[in-house]
Amino acid sequence: MVAAVPAHAASTLRGQAEADGRYLGTELTQGDLGNGGETGIAGTQFDMVTPGNEMKWDTTEPANGSFNFGPGDQIVSFGQSHSMRVRGHNLVWHSQLPSWVSSLSLSQVRGTMESHITTEATHYRGKLYAWDVVNEPFNEDGSLRQDVFFNAMGSGYLADALRTAHTADPNAKLYLNDFNIEGINAKSNAMFSLAQQLLAQGVPLNGIGFESHFILGQVPSNMQANMQRFANLGLDVAVTELDVRIHLPASGANLQQQATDFGNVVRDCLGVSRCVGVSQWGVDDGHSWIPGAFAGFGAATLYDNNFQPKPAFNATLSALGGSSSGGGGGGAVHAVGAGRCLDVPGVSTTLGTQLQIWDCNGGSNQAWTHTSSNQLTVYSGANTRCLDAAGTSPGTKVQIWSCSGGANQQWQANGNGTITGIQSGLCLDVTSAGTANGTLVELWTCNGGSNQQWTIG
Ligand code: XIL
Repeated sequence: MVAAVPAHAASTLRGQAEADGRYLGTELTQGDLGNGGETGIAGTQFDMVTPGNEMKWDTTEPANGSFNFGPGDQIVSFGQSHSMRVRGHNLVWHSQLPSWVSSLSLSQVRGTMESHITTEATHYRGKLYAWDVVNEPFNEDGSLRQDVFFNAMGSGYLADALRTAHTADPNAKLYLNDFNIEGINAKSNAMFSLAQQLLAQGVPLNGIGFESHFILGQVPSNMQANMQRFANLGLDVAVTELDVRIHLPASGANLQQQATDFGNVVRDCLGVSRCVGVSQWGVDDGHSWIPGAFAGFGAATLYDNNFQPKPAFNATLSALGGSSSGGGGGGAVHAVGAGRCLDVPGVSTTLGTQLQIWDCNGGSNQAWTHTSSNQLTVYSGANTRCLDAAGTSPGTKVQIWSCSGGANQQWQANGNGTITGIQSGLCLDVTSAGTANGTLVELWTCNGGSNQQWTIG
């Protein structure tokens, strides 16, 4: 018999975004690649990745003519191995620019910029979905920033940078990216005029990136209309670095407002047919750039410090047209040998609580959802927990834990009625073939026993 296990594609951000013909992206640094909590979520929930720092000039060309693509390559390789697209970020920017560039004589800047773009975009040729070719070119009043590139070349550096990037990687979508251009204001008006001029001159510009580093409650009400006017020029638009920062400590009401804000941004994008996707800057609150950049602020992402999805996660998923995993959509996991159900003792949400079997009663602590990423989740919203193996050897307890995307939280329902842990290969097992209420559940070597037989749903 094939166990009845519904796959819930709608329970991941990426699955639902893809159903809408869009992507949901995240940002990772080299350091993040060493954190299983972050990589687990990144690889299962997101289908686009932007390197946080690894493709910036100070990393890629720290000394004139000396290039280092190792860190960026690691992000590309993570993206490739998780079927994620990669957004190149960035080729030309006034910030994170090594001091040797700023000390060049003005006559050397054009050649240096072109050679930087050519070398980097050629290295990544064919591997990137898009490039932020020029990042943050504008001042808040809509004038162009007086950085080394502008000072050497005037406004012509923008067209020159785009043309050079296009020659090096003709298939990457080439973007200008900036912040505080999400609503209609002096800065976005200036970006709009620039885009019109570049397109009129035949410059290879494909899209505008709206960074979207928002303060709680301050998503502009005309964001969709603003993105639409760029789309009407024949450009793609993308939300490239979304976060919504909260003055700490974040209250429950703050988190609800943040959910509204994230939902609004996603709906604004879906409302524009040329809005290709939404990327969050970072995975979780514990590793976001916000506390380091904006004193007193934090809690800006979809996941909290324990990698648990926040109200904003559910709002994002539901704006994409999906439903949250766990809760209402769940079903019982029957322990066939005992005639009871997989049960969280005492309706506990405490991490580390070991599972037991109990009379089937339809309770929320017996309602499991087998997700498209192989998790078995229970409860919903901020209380969502995952069935989690505390180790890999026979006798290891099976517990609830916050969902990390880790291999110890992935479960395969097999045609012979067993459920195996994807990390250990061991079977979900009612200890000592007990049948009484309260018998604990563990991992054990698969042995064909009736205490290892389960049906889901
Ligand atoms: C940030 C990174 O996240 C930080 O790690 C780094 O210290 C500073 O830059 N706009 C951008 C991003 O385009 O490159 C910035 O990333 C955030 C603001």
